[in-house]
Amino acid sequence: MDMTVKTLEDLQGMVLGWDRSQSAKVQAVYQRLLACLVVHAHNLRVLHWNVTGVDFDPVHELIGDYYSQLSDFIDEVAEMGLQADIPPVGIVEALEVCGNVLPGDSTYSSEECFKIVGILFNELLQAYQAACEMPIHDDIINKLQEHQQWIRKQLQYKNRQRLQQE
Ligand SMILES: [Fe+2]
Repeated sequence: MDMTVKTLEDLQGMVLGWDRSQSAKVQAVYQRLLACLVVHAHNLRVLHWNVTGVDFDPVHELIGDYYSQLSDFIDEVAEMGLQADIPPVGIVEALEVCGNVLPGDSTYSSEECFKIVGILFNELLQAYQAACEMPIHDDIINKLQEHQQWIRKQLQYKNRQRLQQE
């Protein structure tokens, strides 16, 4: 049996299931996911408010639902991070990592909104994928995969709608 005295960080590493030398990278990747969620939830809110045109109501409502769902994801990702000893990011750090912010005073047609939503969701999927490839606890990975699944479903649903229109 290995009787070597472990440092607190070593013990945390053992409990969390990752090697201490990897933990800085894990933290950066995980925080990047949180940053993308924070910034893109904000972007969805801008689209929710600033969509224009005859289909304002359904698009406003759908993007409002996206925003609410992403807000829940932010909370879950931040709190799972805390359990894994990864501090959350504030808005300033989030903007440093993921700086693509939509201006609040622009308007968007429904077509433009969906195009932007597609870009945001794909960026989120990449950030989730990178986090899922980190040596994080299985329970956290499972939850992140659930989030990914929800995002993929929205993208597929939108594509089906487009096909029906053509
Ligand atoms: Fe609203």
